[in-house]
Amino acid sequence: MTDTDNSFLAYADRRFRLSGKALIENGHPYFVPTDALEARSSEWKDGYLSMSHYDYLGLAHHPATTNAAKTAIDTLGTGAGASRLVGGERLGHQALERSMADFLGVGGTLSVISGYLTNVSVIQLLLGPKDLVVVDELAHNSIMVGARGVKSDLVTYAHNDLDDLERILADKRDSYSRVLICTEGLFSMDGDVTDLPRLLDIKERTDCWLLLDEAHSYGVLGPTGRGSCEHFGVDPNRVDVAIGTLSKSFASSGGFIAANADVIEWMRFCLPGFVYSVGLAPATVASAHAALDILRAEPDRVTRLRGNSRRFLRRARDAGLNTGTAIGEAVVPILFDTPEDCVFVAEALMQQGIYAPPVVHIGVPKDLPRIRFFISETHTEADIDRVITAVTEASSAARALRNRISAE
Ligand SMILES: Cc1ncc(COP(=O)(O)O)c(C=O)c1O
Repeated sequence: MTDTDNSFLAYADRRFRLSGKALIENGHPYFVPTDALEARSSEWKDGYLSMSHYDYLGLAHHPATTNAAKTAIDTLGTGAGASRLVGGERLGHQALERSMADFLGVGGTLSVISGYLTNVSVIQLLLGPKDLVVVDELAHNSIMVGARGVKSDLVTYAHNDLDDLERILADKRDSYSRVLICTEGLFSMDGDVTDLPRLLDIKERTDCWLLLDEAHSYGVLGPTGRGSCEHFGVDPNRVDVAIGTLSKSFASSGGFIAANADVIEWMRFCLPGFVYSVGLAPATVASAHAALDILRAEPDRVTRLRGNSRRFLRRARDAGLNTGTAIGEAVVPILFDTPEDCVFVAEALMQQGIYAPPVVHIGVPKDLPRIRFFISETHTEADIDRVITAVTEASSAARALRNRISAE
């Protein structure tokens, strides 16, 4: 294949090379079947330990969630079979959505087949050519793709820098009909949070709307896991559109929207990603609902998750590791000076049975390679100490190796 070859295959290869194909051609730590790792647990002195799953509340294997899924399959079958609007609706869909709205203290919720699609489709429904979308520069790819896919103008503000957001709005607000601010509650790559009270004040003062992605916040933030609003003590009804996902604390899959009941009713009939896509499968709905029931009945799971997360952050900082802006809530990255150090440490962890793959460019900015650790309620103090010790030792070894190579 040459660079002037215009075939589809040549184009795909060119694009893949531009995205860094060379970095993975000689082997890589991605797409590792974790069930196979679990099966090999006895090979490691302290067993297999996953730090790469966002099953924050340890509900993916809870008997109540797995039994709910099995019963749903036995009684309702495997797939929903159609878009809910025209044949795919089940009693379980509405029951889950009512319980979720009640839990979050909002008018309504609507489940969608994927969390990613929820962001893309909602942003595309809300905005048109006379509008502006203002996005935190580190917001999730699904927000960026949604924002790029509309005819509105797009501006990013510096990560969590609400002074920058205010400057942008002072400069641009009056030139647009509607302005949508998009950000995350608990950031999925950095483990820091948006200053929600100030953001709400800004958006209300400047007559903008807010889309708040709570994918990693529900089940995590706030004393009982009700997310950013509970964490900051603000009324959830002040957020125009919150986006959740069932794939993290709720140990299932699919996304959902939390908003005013009339907004939800509009979306039920008009949101393309909902109307033109199949409803959640019965087992997916049932397991998510069971997880929500457990969260409501056992808020101490959130407390234990918080205790583990704080311990991880404290131990990492005490060991001199760079945890960036993380606050110690379920997601804690450890940042490295170079991508090579990052990959070296991830490999060293894997050799000890700890699975936590490296996140390098494209996932994060080039100069901020990291291993992102997802903490779970099920981790023990010994698990956390084991990880921090392993990262500390491997980081020193990586630095020593780098110094040796540069001295040669
Ligand atoms: C902040 C954020 N929003 C949305 C999503 C998409 O959710 P899902 O994986 O459930 O499609 C993710 C996925 O990790 C995420 O981190």
